[in-house]
Amino acid sequence: MRLQGKVAIVTGGGTGIGQGIAVLFAKEGASIVVFGRRPEPLNETVQLIKQKGGKAIAIPTDVSLFEQVQKAVQQVVTQFGKIDILVNNAGVYLPHDALSASEEEWNTVMSIDLKGVWTCAKAVLPQMLKAGSGKIVNIASIAGLIGFEQSAAYCAAKGAVVNLTREMALDYAPKGINVNAIAPGVIESDMTKPFLSEEASKKSFLDKTPIGRIGKPEDIGYAAVYLASNESDFVVGHTLVVDGGWTIR
Ligand SMILES: NC(=O)c1ccc[n+]([C@@H]2O[C@H](COP(=O)([O-])OP(=O)(O)OC[C@H]3O[C@@H](n4cnc5c(N)ncnc54)[C@H](O)[C@@H]3O)[C@@H](O)[C@H]2O)c1
Repeated sequence: MRLQGKVAIVTGGGTGIGQGIAVLFAKEGASIVVFGRRPEPLNETVQLIKQKGGKAIAIPTDVSLFEQVQKAVQQVVTQFGKIDILVNNAGVYLPHDALSASEEEWNTVMSIDLKGVWTCAKAVLPQMLKAGSGKIVNIASIAGLIGFEQSAAYCAAKGAVVNLTREMALDYAPKGINVNAIAPGVIESDMTKPFLSEEASKKSFLDKTPIGRIGKPEDIGYAAVYLASNESDFVVGHTLVVDGGWTIR
C-alpha cells in the first residue's frame, strides 16, 4: 500500500473528484479526513471508506474561512497527531464572462477556488514543517492553463492556483514538503452534470478529448495517489495534466 500510515485531509471530499481521491487514498492505507460544507455528502464518503475497512472522519468546514479551517485542522491533529497529506480539492464553478460576472460571483469563486487553497495550506503547514515532511496536492484545472469561454473568475482562480503551487513549492521544498497540482480535464461530477446531461455539450466535450471519453473521479484519484506518495519525492511545483488529451493540440 502506497499511503500506509499516512493521515490525509481532502477538501470537498464529499462528492465527485474529492470523494474519488478520498476512497483511493483509503484503499492505499491512509486515514482520511474529509472537509466540506455539507455534512451529508461528507458522511457518505466516510461510510464508503468504512464499509471497505478504511479509516475516515468528516469535519464540516468552509475552506474560504481561515478561522474555521484552523479549528478543523486542530481537531485533526488532536485526533490523529499529525497531517501528512493535504489535497486542496474544494471548488465551485460559475458561468459568466468578465462583463456579466457580478462582484459577488467573482468573490465567491476567488474565495473558494483560490483563497481556500491558501487557508488550508496556511493551517496545515505548521504541522508539516514540524514533521519536516508533507505533500500538498492542489486540484487546479485545464481552465488554469488555457482559456475557456464564460469562465472568467474560474479561469483566473485556477491559473492562480497553478502559479501558487510553484510559489509554495519553492518556499517549502527545502523543508521537505512537496507542493504539486493536478489539472483535470472534463470529469463526471456534480460540477459538470449540467453540461454532461445535455447531448450537444457532451458531444462537444467528447470531440475535444482525443481519448474519446469523459474522465472519472478515479482518473484524478490515481494521479493524486502518485503525488501524495513517496514515489513523487523529486516532483516539485509541477502541474500534472489529466485531461484525456484535451490540451495537447
Ligand atoms: N469536474 C471537472 O470536470 C473538473 C475539471 C477541472 C477541475 N475540477 C476541479 O475539481 C475540484 C472538485 O470538483 P468536482 O468536479 O468534483 O465538483 P463537485 O461539485 O462534486 O465538488 C466540489 C466540492 O467542493 C465542495 N465545496 C464547495 N465550496 C466549498 C467550501 N467553501 N468549503 C468546503 N467545501 C466546499 C462542495 O461541497 C463539493 O463537495 C474543484 O476544485 C474543481 O474546480 C473539476
